[in-house]
Amino acid sequence: MPLSSHRDFAAALAFAASSVEHTMDRLLPKGDSDEARVYEAMRYSSLDGGKRLRAFFVLASATLFKVSALAALRTASAIEFVHAYSLIHDDLPAMDDDDLRRGKPSCHKQFDEATAILAGDALQALAFEVLAHEDTHGDAGVRAHLVGDLARAAGAHGMVGGQMLDLLAESRPDLSIGAITRLQRLKTGALISFSCTAGAILGKASDPPRMALSAYAHDLGLAFQIVDDLLDIEGSAAELGKTPGKDAAAGKATFVSILGSERARAQADLLARQAAAHLEPFGDAADLLRQAANFVVARRA
Ligand code: IPE
Ligand code: IPE
Ligand code: MG
Ligand code: MG
Ligand code: MG
Repeated sequence: MPLSSHRDFAAALAFAASSVEHTMDRLLPKGDSDEARVYEAMRYSSLDGGKRLRAFFVLASATLFKVSALAALRTASAIEFVHAYSLIHDDLPAMDDDDLRRGKPSCHKQFDEATAILAGDALQALAFEVLAHEDTHGDAGVRAHLVGDLARAAGAHGMVGGQMLDLLAESRPDLSIGAITRLQRLKTGALISFSCTAGAILGKASDPPRMALSAYAHDLGLAFQIVDDLLDIEGSAAELGKTPGKDAAAGKATFVSILGSERARAQADLLARQAAAHLEPFGDAADLLRQAANFVVARRA
């Protein structure tokens, strides 16, 4: 049953989560060789947890261009591997020093810091190995496009650059809204943009639909991180599966610390509506992505 046969977002997200979980399980290393400790840490932090929203974005964008299920699921697995790596490293003592992730001890707590660093490194490498394999797409040009885009989104001009700015923001409580916007677009927006445009790349779509998805992701990625920052204040550990109050405790400049909760929430709502408006050219076919925009701002975890 393809994702597009689901009309309801919750059911579609659950379907995306279970199908990507199955694919990731098959792609992850397994065994009892001496180095298997790193395999276990990779599996511990990437399987059985998370909303799988980035996987959903890949699958939902892929349905717009009649991409094969295998291609979409392998690409969705790749982005979830990079995302899991980013969370493992984000939780390390040298970064956010967070003991709880997805409702269980974070990777360095369950294993140790060195294993957590290595598990993150290996998950990132695995993502690129998966994208580069011919099972992901028969056209080497498409594979190179995916590899190049994910590398840019994950690296110094994307997530890693944003994480650097985020750490620097701990000693810059006076950061401007423009600077915070840039930080968040890099640290969170870049990987979400890859997720939303991957289907268009796999389907060799023309520029206009790819640009429409990119515009959707540009607005929704920012809304997503504003809501993450709101939940850091409003949520509980039981709901979030991670420690709340980390941003304020670190003195981190966020949309919420600068604008206050009410204006930050209004900004996220506005961005989600703007994101959905970019989907107009797709008509009803983009209905699940429209519902996803609502979910991003209404979610409690
Ligand atoms: C958390 O992302 C980290 C951010 C980029 C804000 P998610 O809220 O998507 O985390 P999971 O995958 O559902 O655990
Ligand atoms: C992390 O942002 C974004 C990443 C690139 C991993 P946060 O530090 O706000 O994410 P959480 O709140 O720990 O999930
Ligand atoms: Mg962080
Ligand atoms: Mg964190
Ligand atoms: Mg956060």
